Amino acid sequence: MPDLDPPQRQSPDAQMLTGFWYRARPSDRVHHNQLHKATLLEIPLVLGRDAQGKPFALRDACPHRGMPLNCGRFDGENLECGYHGWQFDVHNGQCQLIPSLTADQNLKIDRIYAGSYPCEEQDGFLWVYIPDPPPPGAGFAPPAEPPDSAPQIEKFGEKYKLAYLQAEMPVSIDHGIIGLMDPAHGPFVHQAWWWRSRHSIHEKKKNFEPIPNGFRMSAHTPSSNSAPYKLLRLYADADSITTTIDFVLPNLRTETIRAGKYWFSSLTTVTPITRNQCRIDVVAAWNLFHWVPFGPELLKFVFAKFVEQDRHTMELQAEGLKYNPHLMLIDDADRPAKWYFQLKAAHLEAKRTGTELKHPMPGPVTLKWRS
Ligand code: FES
Ligand SMILES: [Fe+2]
Repeated sequence: MPDLDPPQRQSPDAQMLTGFWYRARPSDRVHHNQLHKATLLEIPLVLGRDAQGKPFALRDACPHRGMPLNCGRFDGENLECGYHGWQFDVHNGQCQLIPSLTADQNLKIDRIYAGSYPCEEQDGFLWVYIPDPPPPGAGFAPPAEPPDSAPQIEKFGEKYKLAYLQAEMPVSIDHGIIGLMDPAHGPFVHQAWWWRSRHSIHEKKKNFEPIPNGFRMSAHTPSSNSAPYKLLRLYADADSITTTIDFVLPNLRTETIRAGKYWFSSLTTVTPITRNQCRIDVVAAWNLFHWVPFGPELLKFVFAKFVEQDRHTMELQAEGLKYNPHLMLIDDADRPAKWYFQLKAAHLEAKRTGTELKHPMPGPVTLKWRS
């Protein structure tokens, strides 16, 4: 019998990591010349598209006296605050006009900025870069330069379909994420006749390896007790079906399934909205199932069912969490959750000291659990 670490007390701190891209809103719900409210990491935002369709994200508070900018007027280029009519360029937040100024008052309005955030569209979603907070009292400046582009779904060909679904969960980012990577809830939360029952529970053994800022469940043949994989094996006519699952800070879970020339790729994110609320967005790309009637609908149905089961479970869990219970993580089923907390701590430590992240995993690890 292997010696297991004793259950570990864990109190999620719900700290939200800055300096990363976050999904803000599906692209098809951001319209030309309209303003939309959004919240990321407790930052109120106003999102929109200019006349050319280019998206933008501003802090939803006027730098003058804090009026929400989403109540203002947008002409497709500049946003005019509804209180005193100050106008801002939507892409960099720079002030363009202060109507109350007289001709001989030379206030340098180009030094005034509304908070503005880098914004990119990727795989049907608007992503917003949330930089580290400026030093206190620094005021607003031009938008930060993101170190890289927003994350993309890995694709293995030119032709593919894309779909998304989302659900809001009344729990902190930490609970959202560890719920997502938790292998032991499957038989209890995700029961369905076409998927699996709790009687199909059996021992599993998976290999994990460290990757930059995260960990990977190494390429393996998917679990034999799940119907979609059985279906896949039947239709894809491939000798081998492999799936790889990665988790990367701050909140990215990618899953890739490959069966011969067919592939299915998804990027799931858990986005912190507030300290006690997060949102899960699943975006999938695939070239499978175009020969199956209703393939995409079927897939969406399966995913929607899963996400709804998770959402409902976390809604119930939130009731219990209200009273700050002691929580514990056990080996091996909760080891990925432990890695998540360790990675997060290592990331913050690396940032604090200006050093490289010390990865909590020494090397490849095999975990065993029953699910
Ligand atoms: S509060 Fe926005 S212009 Fe005064
Ligand atoms: Fe789940």
